[in-house]
Amino acid sequence: MQDVPQHSILDQDLARAEIRRLWPSDRPEILGHFLRLDAENRRLRFGAPMSDDAVARHVREVMKGPARLYGAYADGRLRAVAELCLIETTTPPTAEAAFSVEPDYQNHGIGDRLLQRAITAACAWGVTRVLLVCLRENDRMLRLARNHAARLEMDADIVAASLTTPRLTRRARWRDRASDILGRIRLAFRAVPGSMPPLPPSYG
Ligand SMILES: CC(C)(COP(=O)(O)OP(=O)(O)OC[C@H]1O[C@@H](n2cnc3c(N)ncnc32)[C@H](O)[C@@H]1OP(=O)(O)O)[C@@H](O)C(=O)NCCC(=O)NCCS
Repeated sequence: MQDVPQHSILDQDLARAEIRRLWPSDRPEILGHFLRLDAENRRLRFGAPMSDDAVARHVREVMKGPARLYGAYADGRLRAVAELCLIETTTPPTAEAAFSVEPDYQNHGIGDRLLQRAITAACAWGVTRVLLVCLRENDRMLRLARNHAARLEMDADIVAASLTTPRLTRRARWRDRASDILGRIRLAFRAVPGSMPPLPPSYG
């Protein structure tokens, strides 16, 4: 069983954590986020222990492939990442999703919001099935998967959780696209302190 972490951060601040799509220019921040994960959280995220070099290789590779990444920001830094990687040989179109939330920010609903964002993004991408693979001991991830009505297939050590994505309305598709565009605009403004246009909460 994993421990539920202690927090000094207000829940309401984390509930408002900005979520946006990540782009190749975000690579240093993505790497920084993964390097801030301790050994145990890295093991849970990748299914095996990962050195700093292996994490750096993973980030390089994933940014080159057919993938979409989303990140949650809190306290001015990227604190959580969702990865959606297209598995190109599958029918129906399937993407594998993976999530990481920095230990101090876990258990505040960020993982749940990122999973919801990944499901919406997958639909908009034409993906009808999202696959989540995690260690069987990963109670928190399994709880999230069950909360989103995933079908679980248990192996001795790992669990494959499969989610069928709902059909998106044209409006929801448009909102997904608009959210990506707004995120990009905010990224462009980030270089100028104080000039960042706000992201409507519903676009998280
Ligand atoms: C798994 C992970 C992504 C979840 O993100 P999170 O922000 O902590 O999750 P949330 O706060 O949105 O939700 C956690 C859920 O697990 C529950 N939970 C928390 N601690 C738990 C525990 N020890 N056992 C079982 N459930 C637990 C919470 O109550 C919540 O469920 P609820 O909404 O029904 O109450 C995050 O903890 C993480 O990054 N872990 C390390 C890396 C990892 O395991 N990645 C997954 C591999 S793909």
